[in-house]
Amino acid sequence: MLKNYSEILRGEVRRSDIERILRISGKEELEKLYAGAYELKLKHRGPHVYFRGLIEISNICMKDCLYCGIRRSNNKVLRYELTDKQVLEEAQFALDSGYGSVVLQGGERSDKIFIGRITRLIREIKGLRKSQDAINRKSDITGETKVVRNTFPSVADYGNCDFSLGITLSLGEQNTDVYREWYDAGARRYLLRIESSNKALYEKIHPAGMPDKDSHSYEKRISAINALKKAGFLTGTGVMIGLPWQSYEDLVGDILFFRKIGVDMVGMGPYIPHRDTPLGKLYYKLNSRHIADPQENCGHGYGELFPLANKQKLELSLKMVAVLRYIMPHINIAATTALQVLAPDGRERALLAGANIIMPNVTDISAKGNYNLYEGKPGLGDDACATKYILEKNLEKLDIPIGWDTLGDWR
Ligand code: 5AD
Repeated sequence: MLKNYSEILRGEVRRSDIERILRISGKEELEKLYAGAYELKLKHRGPHVYFRGLIEISNICMKDCLYCGIRRSNNKVLRYELTDKQVLEEAQFALDSGYGSVVLQGGERSDKIFIGRITRLIREIKGLRKSQDAINRKSDITGETKVVRNTFPSVADYGNCDFSLGITLSLGEQNTDVYREWYDAGARRYLLRIESSNKALYEKIHPAGMPDKDSHSYEKRISAINALKKAGFLTGTGVMIGLPWQSYEDLVGDILFFRKIGVDMVGMGPYIPHRDTPLGKLYYKLNSRHIADPQENCGHGYGELFPLANKQKLELSLKMVAVLRYIMPHINIAATTALQVLAPDGRERALLAGANIIMPNVTDISAKGNYNLYEGKPGLGDDACATKYILEKNLEKLDIPIGWDTLGDWR
């Protein structure tokens, strides 16, 4: 029998109910779950998807997370750092394209030179204005540029030439003074995923003591998220789905963690193995076949969600997005790039299950091939223009309007 998910996922929702929903597999039930989440997105946030142009500023990283392709001890990675000129050109592209915001993302570093450079770049990006070319342009490579005026209440419409880019940072754990410095320079959002809200699991995939005794601490991570909120940032977090040792119960805990800590944004997606990492090696050792039924994984000691066939992992990620939309109907939820590794239309499917943010890559094509957090990163051969074109076409087919020149924050 079909359930009314809005009823079940309201108020003091029970853990067992969330878990039951995450275990749904019937097509009809799933479609009902996604459709309900989509309705809630329409009701609370309107029809638009908001773009944040992703700038992968550097793959130099001090951390050694067991899942991540750019971990410090992966010496097969060609390390790079974009120049200031490249970063500003990419930001200008985002601004001229009507993206509204950029995300500066990179490996974690906390040296003075890096911190100062980010401060300077934030100021310079805030100083950018649309080029005359972009203002005059009636049509771009995508044909007629359709400017969708955002009439939805609570979302500011900045569709004018004075608009300056919103800046999101995704640069790891820093101390409070650094967060303040970056906020004062003009950044307003910060993404710091908890990766898993289960402390024991967090510690398994982030062994303590790399590179120094304080790094990879769960408590430090939580304090950092709270410090970001205190510094005034719209704060985002998120988790990976389908990790070794992860359970459905953990994912329920993740959803409740987002609500408890009161985040403004969530980006979560499937864990995708990278063969030059410890967890990737484990995956390839175990995964001689694709496992469709989590039950089959019980007993090998790595948890029911590892390894999981792509279809099931995608479905589980979409269910997480949908459930979160029911529980936190106002927040920004990203349709993350990792979804696209599992299915070419993975992100679009997340939009239909309640997500409302996409982060099109605007990184210079010469660099983005070296920012491989996981294997199978899509669109490596597409430059920023092609990425925009393809995305616009896909969204048009689904009748999802894009919130151009708009920040798209919920508060
Ligand atoms: N699979 C999926 N996501 C990953 N990330 C890092 N490595 C992987 C991987 N192998 C995610 C982490 C991090 C974000 C920037 O990328 O969640 O916070």
